[in-house]
Amino acid sequence: PDLYCVFGNPIAHSRSPVIHARFAELTGHRITYERRLLPEGGFDTGLQAFMAEGGRGCNVTVPFKHDAARVATERSARVQLAGAANTLVLAGEDIYADNTDGLGLVADIERNAQVPLLGRDVLLVGAGGAAAGVLGPLIEAGARRVVVANRTLAKAEALVAAHAALAVQYGAVLAAAEPQAVAGAFDVVVNATASSLSGAAVPVAATVLRPGCLAYDMMYGPAAQGFLDWARQHGAVPRDGLGMLVEQAAEAFALWRGVRPPSAKVLAELRAQSA
Ligand code: ATR
Repeated sequence: PDLYCVFGNPIAHSRSPVIHARFAELTGHRITYERRLLPEGGFDTGLQAFMAEGGRGCNVTVPFKHDAARVATERSARVQLAGAANTLVLAGEDIYADNTDGLGLVADIERNAQVPLLGRDVLLVGAGGAAAGVLGPLIEAGARRVVVANRTLAKAEALVAAHAALAVQYGAVLAAAEPQAVAGAFDVVVNATASSLSGAAVPVAATVLRPGCLAYDMMYGPAAQGFLDWARQHGAVPRDGLGMLVEQAAEAFALWRGVRPPSAKVLAELRAQSA
């Protein structure tokens, strides 16, 4: 079987191996998909070792998405915009980098949660690798206004600047803000910070939540709980990132194997297992 893996730190709780194993089963492909823990600063060495073993592709998660974009020999337009990659396709010495996170998020919001993004006001909280990967696809999905709120304002400003031309092309209005200074309310609020992971409070005020709005955490499991509880308490519809995980995995699988797996079916199975 062809070898794949997911690199991250931490990685022990990643559900990617289960998802890709199920995709392979449902599409009749034979693959091996492993978890690989790498030390901080150890991405390049880890990837080289994996390539030497004959690895055909990998997913990349926190904190290595910027490293993955940097080491690539070829980058998709999305990776060039985001400066971050979550999927590498490996062939000999060639490393092709793509970022399927944004497609995964948009697919989960629009197809699975059935919230169309066209004309919507979106608040993206965070400006790290996770946020960078989804801003472009949110604009391309037709969001009317996207505000990027981040503790370190300069990072939000840089992300907005990098996407300025794309926003003009799609007629979207972009702005950067400090989390406490976000004005107005939104239809969709996406938490792309690691705030819940560290047990920190949600960085934005509840006034950003329009009644009944979608409050989306890109994490799943305990890491998303703080944000989702907060959202529910303030009248928003909470949604964790499990669907995004499955949908970004489906896009990666399609890149590697040339066939799109039945992602909605696998998401339903995972939800049933954890219910
Ligand atoms: P990732 O790849 O998951 O995005 P990252 O690049 O380290 O990881 O970015 C983490 C994001 O979470 C950043 O937006 C970070 O804010 P800063 O840019 O100001 O560092 C945000 N973040 C992490 N801990 C946070 C906290 N306790 N409160 C608010 N934001 C936090």
